[in-house]
Amino acid sequence: MFQAAAISNPNYNLTGQDFIVVGGGGYIGAHVCKRLAERGGRPIVFDNFEAGHEHAVKWGPFETMDLRDRGQTRAAFQKYPNVKTVIHLASSIEVGEGERAPEEFYENNVSGAFNLLMAMRATGADRLIFSSTCATYGETQNMPLLESEIQNPFSVYGKTKLAIEHMIQSYHKAYGLNYVTFRYFNASGADEGGEIGEEHDPETHLIPNALKAAAGLGKGLKLFGTDYDTADGTCVRDYIHVSDIAEAHIQAIRAMDGGLTQAELNLGTGEGYSVLQIINAIEKVTGLPVPYEVGPRRDGDLTQLYANSAKARKILDFTPENSTLENIIETAWNFHRCKWGV
Ligand SMILES: NC(=O)c1ccc[n+]([C@@H]2O[C@H](COP(=O)([O-])OP(=O)(O)OC[C@H]3O[C@@H](n4cnc5c(N)ncnc54)[C@H](O)[C@@H]3O)[C@@H](O)[C@H]2O)c1
Repeated sequence: MFQAAAISNPNYNLTGQDFIVVGGGGYIGAHVCKRLAERGGRPIVFDNFEAGHEHAVKWGPFETMDLRDRGQTRAAFQKYPNVKTVIHLASSIEVGEGERAPEEFYENNVSGAFNLLMAMRATGADRLIFSSTCATYGETQNMPLLESEIQNPFSVYGKTKLAIEHMIQSYHKAYGLNYVTFRYFNASGADEGGEIGEEHDPETHLIPNALKAAAGLGKGLKLFGTDYDTADGTCVRDYIHVSDIAEAHIQAIRAMDGGLTQAELNLGTGEGYSVLQIINAIEKVTGLPVPYEVGPRRDGDLTQLYANSAKARKILDFTPENSTLENIIETAWNFHRCKWGV
């Protein structure tokens, strides 16, 4: 159950408030930090920088720490006893890696989140915004996906995220933790100022890899499967701009300030695009051809995933305003061109 929040304030002010952003050196975390700072808040980044980047931490202090280390996690939280709201984005994210090395995935994602919840409870931080994923849903024809859809994840990655969702629900019930769990669909695009963007290594996401192929860099794009049951045979996904995801976090804070105590919310646009549609759009925006090679399906990929985003709209009064495909590709291209010097 959730409570309706007050009417949205697009300029919600966070002046004087500190936030711990775990995984704030990563792609989405850095955009969340920037948005928090733009609203007057101070993001304090906790990260082990195994996948994230110190150069992406620009809006507040950081602590180099590892969630897998319970003592270190608690000590990092104890340095900031006044923080009430924690944004948790740290996790292993590469779906194929999860299938090959589930032990590492469960340790990093599930044990890591458990250590985080214990540290929050010990220090009295009682509000959490958690980055879950559409990969917690299973293969289904029920599109667009509602939050009430059965969660039957196909991948180890999705299973770890679902386990964390359940832990958070238990902490809510037993210990009064207030939370918003966001099930992101495909985060994409980059900061409009070109300051930060997607820098995964290895990069497995379609848009940066297709842009790389368009720029004539790397080994070319691999397209995993053209025999899916979709209009053109390629997988369909829901691409939401990373700045819209960042803004949704501000609206979640606002809603919790207004009394929201728990919610699971899809974060998507409601629109699905196939891999080939994305490639065509990239060719249009960049004016360059995207060379690609067709390979077999990849383990863990579902046929199609796109969100029913009515609940986030209702609870947070949130609309993804930057998520046209054109804007997503333009901002990503702008960031990557500078980074690659092309
Ligand atoms: N990118 C997407 O499209 C997408 C979609 C759905 C959900 N998500 C979720 O959003 C979150 C952020 O994704 P992202 O694309 O920004 O990933 P990312 O890899 O860029 O960022 C994750 C950050 O967490 C840090 N981290 C990982 N394990 C840690 C640990 N044990 N201790 C401390 N720091 C640790 C990494 O160093 C990195 O900075 C993840 O939880 C991911 O599962 C992302």
